Amino acid sequence: MRMRKKPNLIPRMQRCERVLPKEPEQFCGRWLEAFPERNQLWLEVGCGKGLFSAQTARENPEALLVAIEKVPEALVVAMERACAEDLSNLLFIDGDATGLPELFAEGEVDRIFINFCDPWRRKGNAKRRLTSPAFLKIYGSLLRPGGQIRFKTDNVPLFDYSLETLEAEGWSVTELTRDLHKNGAAEIMTDYETKFHEQGVPICALTAEMRARV
Ligand SMILES: C[S@@+](CC[C@H](N)C(=O)[O-])C[C@H]1O[C@@H](n2cnc3c(N)ncnc32)[C@H](O)[C@@H]1O
Repeated sequence: MRMRKKPNLIPRMQRCERVLPKEPEQFCGRWLEAFPERNQLWLEVGCGKGLFSAQTARENPEALLVAIEKVPEALVVAMERACAEDLSNLLFIDGDATGLPELFAEGEVDRIFINFCDPWRRKGNAKRRLTSPAFLKIYGSLLRPGGQIRFKTDNVPLFDYSLETLEAEGWSVTELTRDLHKNGAAEIMTDYETKFHEQGVPICALTAEMRARV
């Protein structure tokens, strides 16, 4: 579902329409064919204001990074960042991650980033967590064999829930830490991560891939 935009957002988004494909569904199954100068397709789910997106794209010119975000007020800031830096390997989708299967074909994606997603503390809202079984099934179908999820959060209950859900859904966790930046900034940080890190909050992170089907 697309959210209604406040009027002042429309001109801001129009100014950066270069990074927001009008009909992203048309690229389903042929993202890398349409952007042949890139050889990896990466997806970021819930990019927020896009600090991580911009730096990741800048440091990985071989990859096309597509970031999806459902809140236009955050998305527009991420788009403005990408345009200000003139990044040509970063694109955005204005929408909800439940729509990913219409945007990417099975096995098309090399890597998925899920950073500091909302914890949805109440059990009744667990299906909205971006690491719920339904979302993991979507990611599992979009990733190529051996493709990975990178997940980071400050929220320990969400991290524990995600570990349990990954295990139950047939994923192998290949890297895990509960204090990613213990010895100084270890990797590209998101907007939320920067704030938590400055407050001294430990960051949990994991990498996971689907176990081979037998
Ligand atoms: C807590 S913020 C973190 C933003 C950013 N990843 C960061 O670390 O700074 C979580 C973001 O995920 C987005 N989000 C949550 N569920 C989503 C969904 N189903 N589809 C797309 N975006 C979603 C929210 O709108 C929000 O911007």
